[in-house]
Amino acid sequence: MTTLSNNAVTARAHTNIALVKYWGKKDENLIIPYTGSLSLTLDYFYTDTQVAFDANLTTDDVQIDGQPASAKTTARVSRFLDIVRQRSGITKSAAVRSTNHVPTAAGLASSASAFAALAAASSRAAGMNLSLTDLSRLARRGSGSACRSIFGGFAEWQPGTDDTNSYAIPIKSHGLADLRVIALTTVKGPKAISSRQGMRLSVTTSPYYPAWIQTAQADLVALKAALAAADFTAIGKISELNAMRMHALTLSADPDFTYFNGQTLTIIDLVKSLRHSGVECYYTIDAGPNVKVLCQSETTEKIVTTFSKVLGDENVIVTKPGPGVQYL
Ligand code: ADP
Ligand code: DP6
Ligand code: CO
Repeated sequence: MTTLSNNAVTARAHTNIALVKYWGKKDENLIIPYTGSLSLTLDYFYTDTQVAFDANLTTDDVQIDGQPASAKTTARVSRFLDIVRQRSGITKSAAVRSTNHVPTAAGLASSASAFAALAAASSRAAGMNLSLTDLSRLARRGSGSACRSIFGGFAEWQPGTDDTNSYAIPIKSHGLADLRVIALTTVKGPKAISSRQGMRLSVTTSPYYPAWIQTAQADLVALKAALAAADFTAIGKISELNAMRMHALTLSADPDFTYFNGQTLTIIDLVKSLRHSGVECYYTIDAGPNVKVLCQSETTEKIVTTFSKVLGDENVIVTKPGPGVQYL
């Protein structure tokens, strides 16, 4: 990445995969969710973002992967930077140079790493020195899932009720060092329905949304107990069930939609048959057709071999728990 100027700040944040998912906002402006969620930050996928406030600019200049960002993304980034400007008292526009080491808008949580990195870089470039909690609160305003990517390892987003008390906290885990997440990609291009649109449709039209609130809360309690006990089987089962309950909200929306494609279903079947043959693994799927398989280090090779034959080596990526946000 080219350096913008002396006062530019660069931050790196990794994506996270939710095991109990966030799917629906109580407050769309502040991004306050209906339910808590819990994720694992991944080492392989991340975003680097450099920000410099510059008196010579008249509007924010946002580039992603060396290209000017779309009008929609630039507007989203500018709205986010307005919060930083308002809090810091800065009035200048900003140059933003971001590189995604993750497919963009494909259901691999680019918005999580992107807004966690942007929160860290822009707040420091504006002269603020925020605590991790305040960084999490700020990242949340860009994309809900980003509040969890401030932290490494497991993180729980406590839903809260307003801007002050809706943020993620790190969840300590012991005995899970050999946990692996295998990312299986079927499509790396952008999805037709963004997470934001998809969850709004689910909240406003799925008759099952109230049931989601109930079950997601129970799933979160159960997952925290499973993590505390380092019980891989329970972690896997809860994650799989919670993912399918989330996707049931898209199928029951009006109009109905799905993030799955044909290969997604093939992968689900294969995970189940691996499990029946004694290879313990579970799947989870975010808002996109790509699948993440939870497993332990000793079974990783067998699972990688199985899926490489179906998807090709380049679509099978082994990831581990990753670090929290950092300055470069
Ligand atoms: P994903 O599954 O990738 O998180 P979302 O629909 O939640 O998909 O978010 C994708 C959107 O996030 C993009 O369309 C873009 O507006 C924004 N985004 C992704 N990467 C970046 C980036 N590096 N910098 C700024 N915004 C980004
Ligand atoms: C399925 O955080 O991308 O990945 O807050 O509108 O930006 P916005 O949505 P986003 O939604 C993530 C949805 C999910 C589940 C999760 O990460 O918890
Ligand atoms: Co997202």
